[in-house]
Amino acid sequence: MQLSGRVAVVTGGAGGIGAALCRAFLDEGMRVVVADVVPERVDAAVAELSARGEVLGVVTDVSSPESVEALAERTWDRFGACHLLCNNAGVGAPSANVWETTVNDWRWVHGVNVMGVVHGILAFVPRMIASGEPGHVVNTSSGDGGIEPLPAASVYASSKAAVSILTECLAQQLRSEGTKLRASIFYPSGGLLRTGLWESDRTRPAQLAREKPRPTEPMTVAKLEAMAAKGGFDLPWQDLDELARVVVEGLRDDEEFLHMIDRETIGPKLRRRAEAFEQGRLPEHEATPLG
Ligand SMILES: NC(=O)c1ccc[n+]([C@@H]2O[C@H](COP(=O)([O-])OP(=O)(O)OC[C@H]3O[C@@H](n4cnc5c(N)ncnc54)[C@H](O)[C@@H]3O)[C@@H](O)[C@H]2O)c1
Repeated sequence: MQLSGRVAVVTGGAGGIGAALCRAFLDEGMRVVVADVVPERVDAAVAELSARGEVLGVVTDVSSPESVEALAERTWDRFGACHLLCNNAGVGAPSANVWETTVNDWRWVHGVNVMGVVHGILAFVPRMIASGEPGHVVNTSSGDGGIEPLPAASVYASSKAAVSILTECLAQQLRSEGTKLRASIFYPSGGLLRTGLWESDRTRPAQLAREKPRPTEPMTVAKLEAMAAKGGFDLPWQDLDELARVVVEGLRDDEEFLHMIDRETIGPKLRRRAEAFEQGRLPEHEATPLG
């Protein structure tokens, strides 16, 4: 896909991985719409990113169909097109046994991670198809759920499993219907990612507050670093700009469906899972500090 001169929309674009995607797309000569739920973050991102190219900031709550529809309208009003939609906004719930999660954990996380992607597809894809121009939808999933779940992260992992499967359905349909659009999955990977996901609670709406105290304290970047300093080991931080380049490179290849660093690590995991399922067994999970 040719990127230069084209228009990209990135949800969750004002922070973490989304902001890195915006930088990468601007550096490719794209015009970029930064959509994020926190107005101050949108303003700060637009101020910072504008040095690289043409940027439009739109405060958007992806869990609201009306808000995402308004995002599409603003995009077409300003640029008359969208060639690349990155449904990237995502949040993480507290780690908990499934029976200790709450209804609002599910409503919030699936509302943003799953319905946010659905709203993006519903608002943008019909317009993108109607334009007759080539286009692409990249949905940010996670190896946690998309490949295998961290059991403690049931709410998050199940939301990302849904994102991966719905993206595969979308990609098949866009092809079989003969459209000029493609869809692909992005699995952020390569190491630990220094992003706001660790502190997702900052954007949790009051009406979806947890109904009871969380069973586990949130893991934060600061806590991880303190653990590493105490244990005398280095944390494998992955550079976010390098990660975003993987998506840019993947978009150049029409056949690439899965953008990821260390893609070769998927095979052994999936084969282990497939063997367990074939034998009717529960796949084994490696214990990790994050569940
Ligand atoms: N950080 C990781 O380790 C990791 C790993 C795999 C996948 N991911 C996925 O990457 C994506 C980006 O996450 P990140 O790590 O950059 O986290 P982040 O918190 O730094 O960025 C997420 C952005 O989404 C925004 N956002 C939250 N709720 C929103 C809503 N309702 N509407 C619009 N925007 C909203 C936040 O304001 C934030 O700017 C997410 O989908 C996440 O699940 C992250």
